[in-house]
Amino acid sequence: MAFQQELISWYLVNKRNLPWRHTQDPYIIWLSEIILQQTRVEQGLPYFNRFLAAYPTVSDFAAATETQILKLWQGLGYYSRGRNMLFTARQIMDLYAGIFPVSYRELIKLKGVGEYTAAAISSFSSGESMAVLDGNVFRVLSRYFGISTPINSTLGKKQFSELAQSLIDKQDPALYNQAIMEFGALQCKPKSPNCEICPLMLSCYAKNNNLIPVLPVKLKT
Ligand code: ADE
Repeated sequence: MAFQQELISWYLVNKRNLPWRHTQDPYIIWLSEIILQQTRVEQGLPYFNRFLAAYPTVSDFAAATETQILKLWQGLGYYSRGRNMLFTARQIMDLYAGIFPVSYRELIKLKGVGEYTAAAISSFSSGESMAVLDGNVFRVLSRYFGISTPINSTLGKKQFSELAQSLIDKQDPALYNQAIMEFGALQCKPKSPNCEICPLMLSCYAKNNNLIPVLPVKLKT
């Protein structure tokens, strides 16, 4: 089976049941992805639930005060995320008539939305074929394909993003993106991954060459 199909089959059996995976609403996906930047799923989940209960739509969010947003954000850290979200929610009311954009091209213009987040929201909400590239994806690709270019170098970013984009499943980009991130989070873990039960073990370059402990390579900054 091809790399992509193996990941998707693994995902369908092993995925966690997470609330933002049951919606295509770009506002809800945006909320989850911004909260999950620099935050683990277990830590972010209760915040996501509280924010969605308090602000079920972008219009509700835009009508909040900064004090209210920062109060709900308390404990998550990186408070600029909350401030940027309020700015963006208000901008969506003013410039997009309250309709949250779903295309990568529009999403990337929003404050607080970088390449990863724009790819995540566009693929999950509208099925756009944009590959996500986060720490999990870097790790899976560098190990499976045996790429030792540092992931935080200019060349590495280019190589990995081209590879990620070439691999995306055009039939179901959202499913593939969720699958490779979940695979990195649960199976191809940074430290002591359980390779013995990995469906990609036989064709994994790092496994076959004893490079699991050294890949991915990251330059000290
Ligand atoms: N971390 C960031 N985005 C995520 C997602 N959509 N599912 C699980 N973990 C994530």
